[in-house]
Amino acid sequence: MTTETPQPRIMIAAHGLGKAFGTNRVLQGVSLDLAHGEVVAVIGPSGSGKSTFLRCLNHLETIDEGSVTIDGEPLATAGQDGRSHYVPEREVRRICRKMGMVFQSFNLFPHMTVLQNLIEAPMTVKGLAREAAVAKAEALLDKVGLLAKRDSYPGRLSGGQKQRVAIARALAMEPQIMLFDEPTSALDPELTGEVLRTMRALAQERMTMLVVTHEMGFAREVANRVVFMDQGQLIEQAPAAQFFATPQHPRTQAFLQQML
Ligand SMILES: Nc1ncnc2c1ncn2[C@@H]1O[C@H](COP(=O)(O)OP(=O)(O)OP(=O)(O)O)[C@@H](O)[C@H]1O
Ligand SMILES: [Mg+2]
Repeated sequence: MTTETPQPRIMIAAHGLGKAFGTNRVLQGVSLDLAHGEVVAVIGPSGSGKSTFLRCLNHLETIDEGSVTIDGEPLATAGQDGRSHYVPEREVRRICRKMGMVFQSFNLFPHMTVLQNLIEAPMTVKGLAREAAVAKAEALLDKVGLLAKRDSYPGRLSGGQKQRVAIARALAMEPQIMLFDEPTSALDPELTGEVLRTMRALAQERMTMLVVTHEMGFAREVANRVVFMDQGQLIEQAPAAQFFATPQHPRTQAFLQQML
């Protein structure tokens, strides 16, 4: 009798990513797989390529080398010479819609109310009817504790509230994967907690999440795995507890010593 272990559904498969800005080789052979429901934290010094890596996954930047597969669908494949070739633009857009992204700087539309921010893309991109988009938006606002701010403009919200709206806005597109690029770095410590709580709740719902963060406590408690990047390379990765308890690479050790 054979017992088969079920294969995990791989949501992000990045292999050998290479990216240069001019002569600056910002990513050098970065590979990472994320299974469904996994939360992976990416940490590393400023300029190590964390944001670029995230941006390459959802085509805000293009890769030069390597391949990216999202939920089983190739976004870019590597040719014989390792150079990347993207699938047609239409496919790229469709596949990238599986990913929602949250930025350090919120990026809300300032001239739209909170509700308008949430219904805009579902209506224009997904063709959702207004009533359905509004119902969905209200449910999401309720979930992040901001239904009362439905008709406010972003300028009247605190940083923590803006970021929770930004998370709700990304979720309104029903992504399979959420990418976070230092979502709390622009926030005062007392506002950081409310955003991290929202993210923790998402993780508990088994959202697949890739989170660039300086919040070591969050990485330790919420992430299944922690990845350390330095100088465009993925230096080390391990389950969170192990990563913090016994970092292997001297550069990881030095970085953690500085952070903790
Ligand atoms: N659009 C761009 N044009 C040219 N160089 C860029 C661009 N974006 C990033 N870089 C360079 O790529 C390198 C990696 O930048 P990146 O923003 O990915 O780092 P990071 O790890 O996110 O840093 P931080 O922690 O400060 O956010 C840096 O040397 C940066 O100057
Ligand atoms: Mg960055």
